[in-house]
Amino acid sequence: MSTKEHKPASLLIRGGRVIDPLARVDGLMDVLLRDGQVVELGPVGKVRGGAEENFDARGLIVAPGFIDLHVHLREPGQSYKETIASGTAAAASGGFTSVCCMPNTTPVLDSPEWVTWVRQPQRGAVVNVFPVAAATQASKGAVLTDFRALQRVGAVAVSDDGKPVLNETTMRDALRASAEINFPVIQHAEDTRITQNCSMNEGRASFRLGLRGMTIAAEAAIVDRDVQLAQQFNGARLHLAHVSTAEALKSVRRGKRNRARVTCEVTPHHFSLTDADIRGYDANFKMNPPLRSSEDRQALVEALSDGTVDAIASDHAPHALHEKIIEFERAAFGITGLETALGLAITVLHLRHQIPLERIIELFTSGPARVVDLRGRGALLRGSHADLTIFDPKKRWTFEAAKSRSKSHNTPFDGWQFTGKVVATIVSGKVIYRAA
Ligand code: DOR
Ligand code: ZN
Repeated sequence: MSTKEHKPASLLIRGGRVIDPLARVDGLMDVLLRDGQVVELGPVGKVRGGAEENFDARGLIVAPGFIDLHVHLREPGQSYKETIASGTAAAASGGFTSVCCMPNTTPVLDSPEWVTWVRQPQRGAVVNVFPVAAATQASKGAVLTDFRALQRVGAVAVSDDGKPVLNETTMRDALRASAEINFPVIQHAEDTRITQNCSMNEGRASFRLGLRGMTIAAEAAIVDRDVQLAQQFNGARLHLAHVSTAEALKSVRRGKRNRARVTCEVTPHHFSLTDADIRGYDANFKMNPPLRSSEDRQALVEALSDGTVDAIASDHAPHALHEKIIEFERAAFGITGLETALGLAITVLHLRHQIPLERIIELFTSGPARVVDLRGRGALLRGSHADLTIFDPKKRWTFEAAKSRSKSHNTPFDGWQFTGKVVATIVSGKVIYRAA
């Protein structure tokens, strides 16, 4: 180890507009970071103690580090699509300081050994990685995994994402176990009995393209069932991944009104695009759940605004060219999303739909932190982890997929112009990404 690494690392972020929705902070301030922690927040020029390094944040927003609840890092086993190193590098350039990675890898992340493997430093992660373990063995939907053992080695939730826990008895057992050990179950809500061979949303657009469509009910029926189940077990924690329909939001609202511990996330592509945007057969517009109608999109925006939605999550789903540049119906579901999430949130939610920046930051920080209990993250309190996202809410830029840090470039947003750009990403007090 060099002598430099022995020195207490400190960084003073000066003159930025600090927005921390949880602490209800919004103002021009200095933030002092030392030894991986937030040690002080104060008026500009008034923070004492000095630091080895300074960061000039004038004109920029300084926020708690962004947390993405839904990312596919593809390791173990699918490193041709992404690795933990490349996926977390993409996360860093998208402003994310923590990501929760999904277990639909090869093999499936259904054992304490594999959860431990994902968390090892040799994987080369540059941001915090919190694994979501499988809810059932091999995610086959039949036999529950050992939630307690998975929780003990650092899994933050369980899910069979990529597919649903379809069987009602299995879901009931999962929620009962969730209540016993205070552990969230993340559901990919899709009635796969009625979505077989479907590759987009059912509607005018699928009719025009001649493709089989997934109905709204395929999502809404499972959400409704699971919200009802969650209400039956006091303390059960149900998180609904990538909610895409107005109908499903009704059940989420009902669950929340009835004080069930139900949370949900929405992706940037579902609040930005609709099935009418699928022109031609470009599989970069193919994901699951699919792009929905404009009424559904509008309902998602309202739910993001009114507090029904707890988090924006990218569902970053990298796939190789050969899995995407093929017939739409044969192509893999999923798009990359880590590097376009903030640009879409500011451009679409803030500028077009007037959702305040403070609420958008909440959806990227304290919202997701609460869903999976990331203690000491999602806020800038004294003693919090020194994870911060610094961005310019006015900066206009063009996203170029070819320059992405991800190994895969399957995005519908190549060449899009955004307002709002990440300037720096800080993890444990260190600047791990800085915009060129
Ligand atoms: O579009 C999707 N891609 N939806 C999923 O549920 C899985 C994901 C993937 O793993 O590629
Ligand atoms: Zn999913």
